[in-house]
Amino acid sequence: MNYALRKRILVTGGAGFLGSHLCERLLADGHDVLCLDNFFTGTKDNILHLLEDPHFELMRHDVTFPLYVEVDEIYNLACPASPIHYQHDPVQTTKTSVHGAINMLGLAKRLKAKLFQASTSEVYGDPEVHPQREEYWGHVNPIGPRSCYDEGKRCAETLCFDYQRQHGLRIKVAGIFNTYGPRMHPHDGRVVSNFIVQALRNAPITLYGDGTQTRSFCYVDDLIEGFVRLMESPDAVTGPINLGNPGEFTMIELAEAVKELTGSRSELVHAPLPQDDPRQRQPVITRGREQLGWEPKVALREGLKPTIAYFEGLLAGQCGDAGSSARHSGRDAGIQCRESSAERP
Ligand SMILES: NC(=O)c1ccc[n+]([C@@H]2O[C@H](COP(=O)([O-])OP(=O)(O)OC[C@H]3O[C@@H](n4cnc5c(N)ncnc54)[C@H](O)[C@@H]3O)[C@@H](O)[C@H]2O)c1
Repeated sequence: MNYALRKRILVTGGAGFLGSHLCERLLADGHDVLCLDNFFTGTKDNILHLLEDPHFELMRHDVTFPLYVEVDEIYNLACPASPIHYQHDPVQTTKTSVHGAINMLGLAKRLKAKLFQASTSEVYGDPEVHPQREEYWGHVNPIGPRSCYDEGKRCAETLCFDYQRQHGLRIKVAGIFNTYGPRMHPHDGRVVSNFIVQALRNAPITLYGDGTQTRSFCYVDDLIEGFVRLMESPDAVTGPINLGNPGEFTMIELAEAVKELTGSRSELVHAPLPQDDPRQRQPVITRGREQLGWEPKVALREGLKPTIAYFEGLLAGQCGDAGSSARHSGRDAGIQCRESSAERP
């Protein structure tokens, strides 16, 4: 690539599910990538195949502490993303979102770098309007078990926009909806991974409530394309921009699709709905279409195939080379929370 176009890009949470795909994409685009992670939910296995690349660098660091590096762009993804993980140490979850954002925004300010913030559809809470546009301010419980994540992410968005207004920082806020694909955690309680693992084991597939609540699912490659387009968009495009797939499926429909594609003998069983579980979640992606020329292309069944193949490899204890070149040992992929889960002040 043209040397003048090569950027130095920091990806926080780079050893996680989305972060590892983003690092791969940025390297493929010819950039230098600094991958930062504390390995709380991420694993070295996700990026093992990148370690030999001279343009890739791995750094163990916790974003709640200040960081001094020289980069042109920052993708701030560091944060546990599933309820099992973010509720494990809720105080640390809020700190990761809020202190992490302060540290990364401070770094971006010093470097005059562009900052991409991985926000979430959870900022809409249990939405009273459906589907969700970016103009909607949300319906969030500030004191419930999900609040550490939802409110942490909301505060991170606030900080982004205050840094923009107060310091002229270039910011890009993505409202990410449910995403799936190879390198998801097999035991993080998210519905796609849950159903696939249960189906592959011929174990009962658990539907919470009556299974008629809906979700929309975006395949990881589509999402990463949206990340890159948002980062490369003109400075006036700040977001928030919803990135997700508007195709809406009930949990029963998802379970049936997974059953069919895995050829599983699993039965569908019902369990009580968790507290604050939203009934519906679907993005309006007009802004993404108009401002980024972006929309998802991978249909659910198409995206489920490499995802299932990945989990098959994982459960067989083999290299999970399904739709990606990642090596992922069954042992490590089954982790819940690792070293950094130690108690903190
Ligand atoms: N996957 C989705 O469907 C989804 C949806 C909405 C938002 N998001 C957001 O996207 C980002 C990435 O999510 P993911 O699905 O890849 O989750 P993930 O858990 O696989 O990745 C998060 C990464 O951040 C790292 N991390 C956590 N705390 C850290 C800290 N204090 N310092 C440094 N690193 C830390 C973890 O070790 C992990 O590698 C998160 O910010 C999440 O909130 C994801």
